[in-house]
Amino acid sequence: MLPRLDDLIVAFDRGLRTVFAPAQSARATPGEDLPEADMSEEQRRLSASLMRVNHTGEICAQALYQGQALTARDSASRAALEQAAREETEHLAWTERRIEALGGRKSLLNPVFYAGSFAIGALAGLAGDRWNLGFLAETERQVVAHLDGHLKRLPEEDRKSRAIVEGMRVDEARHATSAIGHGAAELPEPAKAVMRMTSKVMTTTSEVL
Ligand SMILES: [Fe+2]
Ligand SMILES: [Fe+2]
Repeated sequence: MLPRLDDLIVAFDRGLRTVFAPAQSARATPGEDLPEADMSEEQRRLSASLMRVNHTGEICAQALYQGQALTARDSASRAALEQAAREETEHLAWTERRIEALGGRKSLLNPVFYAGSFAIGALAGLAGDRWNLGFLAETERQVVAHLDGHLKRLPEEDRKSRAIVEGMRVDEARHATSAIGHGAAELPEPAKAVMRMTSKVMTTTSEVL
């Protein structure tokens, strides 16, 4: 039941690369061909800070999936989790590039968020496959709701950031559906509430830090 040492080393190496190395995307960045909007300094700062939050969210998604994959018992659900983690890498790349284009910076707390999310993911994996997938489905549902909130706050003019958020939203909704399709259990309401609170801490701190 305990993870093997070489799996732990691979996980640690992935973590370092996720937090510190530039992410790559196989798919084109949504909105790549849209022109850069003429925004005020204030609008640009708002966009950059919201995209920083989304970037940190993707760092957490990577960590959760890697943690879950480390302790998941069934190899089919491990493969599904690793596949999902690879798709989240693209979101990481899209948000990272957008932050750069907006002249913003990534969150200083990303290593902390990665470590915390990895531990939460590993615990979810220990709970067994149905709960592990249930945790994934609920995470993705909450991410979709969060992205809806950002679509309300992002400047209307910033079509490039909006296209990225909309592209991510489509993928996250699909991740939730696929977890349910693989037999996810419905989490109890208190667990969902704890998850919402935890992600609130992440989103509010990464908006400023
Ligand atoms: Fe994502
Ligand atoms: Fe996702």
